[in-house]
Amino acid sequence: MPAVRADRLYKIFGKRASRAVELLNDGRHRDEIAALDVTAAVVDVNFEVRAGEIFVVMGLSGSGKSTLIRMLNGLLEPTSGVVEIDGTDITQLSGAALRRLRSQKVSMVFQHFALFPHRSVEENAAYGLEVRGVPREERLAKARESLALVGLDGWENRLPEQLSGGMRQRVGLARALAADTDIILMDEAFSALDPLIRRDMQSQLLELQATLGKTIVFITHDLNEAMRLGDRICVLRDGRVAQIGTAEEILNDPANDYVAQFVEDVDRTRVLTASSVMEPPIPVIDPNHGPRTALRTMRENQTVSAFVVRRNRQLVGAVREGVIGEALSSDAKDLEGLIDTDIERVHPDTAVADLFHQAAESTYPLAVVDDEGRLVGVIPRVTLLAALGAQNSSGSAADSAASETAVDSPAPAPSEESDANAKEPPEAVAAVEDGVADEEGSRQ
Ligand SMILES: Nc1ncnc2c1ncn2[C@@H]1O[C@H](COP(=O)(O)OP(=O)(O)O)[C@@H](O)[C@H]1O
Ligand SMILES: [Mg+2]
Repeated sequence: MPAVRADRLYKIFGKRASRAVELLNDGRHRDEIAALDVTAAVVDVNFEVRAGEIFVVMGLSGSGKSTLIRMLNGLLEPTSGVVEIDGTDITQLSGAALRRLRSQKVSMVFQHFALFPHRSVEENAAYGLEVRGVPREERLAKARESLALVGLDGWENRLPEQLSGGMRQRVGLARALAADTDIILMDEAFSALDPLIRRDMQSQLLELQATLGKTIVFITHDLNEAMRLGDRICVLRDGRVAQIGTAEEILNDPANDYVAQFVEDVDRTRVLTASSVMEPPIPVIDPNHGPRTALRTMRENQTVSAFVVRRNRQLVGAVREGVIGEALSSDAKDLEGLIDTDIERVHPDTAVADLFHQAAESTYPLAVVDDEGRLVGVIPRVTLLAALGAQNSSGSAADSAASETAVDSPAPAPSEESDANAKEPPEAVAAVEDGVADEEGSRQ
């Protein structure tokens, strides 16, 4: 059972919303229904988020991301369609039942932290538990534990205003962790942070995720962030799903021109991993073979080196044609002493960007070896260079280019800051209803 499921989900703002759904069901673009004086924010969205997955929803400002995430936790009622949390259709729940499900199963981390300004850091972090009626000492203990997880031990008794932006967002994250829900929704949670702090937070989230195994729906307008964090990425355009896939699927096989244009500038070497560029290990040589067989194998395959692999695919090392040839002329009978065991090994998940150094050091193609020590592929240097060549030179400018100018945005593109302000009220109201401080308060 998926942790979160959206099924033919629509959110149309305006009086004639149902009529708009009918038209959109016929495949009309949302501009065509403008005459109805409605805004089609989310249109026929379908996906399933697996338990333990980081599912990123990415799109430009106005593409419907916040509207979508608010429907996922019941802060907004869909115009039509179904949202399921752990198999429960939350659109059918009463207000009280919905609030209960939310406090037990779904936490939210906001862009602007939503902290209570007059409460200490630990009281803020404990808030989700307070709403649930957990006794004070117990919830503060749990809060302190979560604060330690995000690196804020020692800051428990400070006030939010004494913290930097990055630290405040850690409190927001700690609050979600303390609430101990399996599902965490994060709406542009890192978007307001400086780039370096933002990268730090991304790393920390990945680390936490590796140990805690939460189900995370992470919203961003930043392609690089999406690619870094997402097990899968859902690209939204004009409220519709343009593509759902892994970063590599989206890079290598974009569903349409829109997605292709979007990913054009991304730093491929950061997204592609060793496993996506490696080639089959041909030829391989059995350690029990003699030098003559080894030499013949290499010549048949027109290579000057080969990996030596046991029957169970365990990598032993590599041999070189020259060494074997010399050994043969001095009458060697086996490969004893001829196998180079000190070779560069890389894990299949290593980013291509991190392979260049090792490749430069290595006499052989890089050996891609899994957790069990098996040779699963090889990466010749030319393959690495090809992966680099496929990349657009503007690389790291992807973020701003893709989100601001590269693709035409349907909505006027206000700055992120004013964008956030304009759309915060509904969330803040509902959040207060749920006992989370409103965002304005936190910024006084
Ligand atoms: N409460 C609302 N009433 C009317 N229109 C809204 C409301 N909330 C969002 N919208 C509109 O819905 C569209 C999607 O908005 P939003 O979900 O906030 O996008 P994103 O989070 O991707 O920037 C935008 O055109 C926005 O103006
Ligand atoms: Mg938004």
